[in-house]
Amino acid sequence: MVIVLDDDFYFINHVQFLCRGKSIPCTPYSSPQELFHAARRPEFAKAKVLIINYAMSEMNGFKIFRQIEEYCPSSLVVYVLKSSQNSTPEISEVVVSERSVKVASKNHINSLMREIELLYQNEVPKLEASKPVLPRHIGIIMDGNGRWAQQKGVERTEGHRQGLEVAKTLIQHAARKGIRYLTLYAFSTENWQRDPKEVAFLNLALKQYLLSERTTMMENNIRFYPIGRIDDFNEDVQELLRVTIEATRGNTGMTLVLAVSYGGQTEIIDAMQLIGKKIQNNQLLPEEITHQTLLDHLYFPELKECDFVIRTSGECRLSNFLTYQSAYSELYFTPILWPDFTPQHFDEALDVYRSRERRFGRETAIRFG
Ligand code: IPE
Ligand code: IPE
Ligand code: MG
Repeated sequence: MVIVLDDDFYFINHVQFLCRGKSIPCTPYSSPQELFHAARRPEFAKAKVLIINYAMSEMNGFKIFRQIEEYCPSSLVVYVLKSSQNSTPEISEVVVSERSVKVASKNHINSLMREIELLYQNEVPKLEASKPVLPRHIGIIMDGNGRWAQQKGVERTEGHRQGLEVAKTLIQHAARKGIRYLTLYAFSTENWQRDPKEVAFLNLALKQYLLSERTTMMENNIRFYPIGRIDDFNEDVQELLRVTIEATRGNTGMTLVLAVSYGGQTEIIDAMQLIGKKIQNNQLLPEEITHQTLLDHLYFPELKECDFVIRTSGECRLSNFLTYQSAYSELYFTPILWPDFTPQHFDEALDVYRSRERRFGRETAIRFG
């Protein structure tokens, strides 16, 4: 396994692409926290190469290297990549914490891949190399509960009840498939405008879900995190959300993100207010604001960009879902109503995702997970 630690997702995708072309299994991590969380997994011990972005490596403070000492096998070859300065030599070697570290420029990624290839020669497990690649972060707009109920001649709430069962099945299915982040759109900021009875039912369903599903989350190693204006809910729901986050914090499998009282525009506004306060307190200069700054101030920064958005019920819009994170998402719309959505439908959607070509504005297509 080659591990990549970088916050530039174009670069992560590029390395993944190169690794796959060379049949080397590749796992991207985009924050040191995520990386070291994952480091406790047994397969991590088999990793031979770690590629770290120079800025994230904090090489001067040696901070990340101390953690590498603690968690990673001593045979791990570490490459520190600097963004494309001309002065960076092709590949040079330095010693940090008694470990030999190779420093290279991102421009020389191809020479780097040749070196990595040599390390893996004759050892690449064929089966793993051909394993299909999954999107890192999938978002689902679970729509069509009302129409499903209408078609059956039952109350809208029946549609929500059935929709919840479908969500439970799908969460387990996605976790077992190895999806890293699954964001489910359960209740939007706009949904508060619905009939108070329906709103009350949905709030109750959320509460019951949190009460009944914690065991399933623990059994499936799922970590839970809500995004949205959590303060909009009654204190008992807020408390349950906090308890569920806490109980599942140490789980290392899929992260289930529940978008509740969530609106993408509101999320950006909330982030801007936090950033504005930092500027006011002289903690940040306006010209220092970057894409990363925005990401860092969203409800759940580690979530980052969404690779794949699925929407059921035939509507072809995003309805304020992951507005900032979906700038380059692949979109998939299916006419199936949410209460009829099955794991097979989900797998079909993933097949479509794999067939897509993501270019990110470049001339060459990059296929990746
Ligand atoms: C999605 O189903 C669930 C929520 C928005 C909570 P809808 O309730 O929007 O179902 P339709 O779109 O009316 O069929
Ligand atoms: C989006 O569905 C929100 C959720 C699925 C939770 P809506 O049914 O509320 O969206 P619109 O009103 O059709 O855009
Ligand atoms: Mg709807």
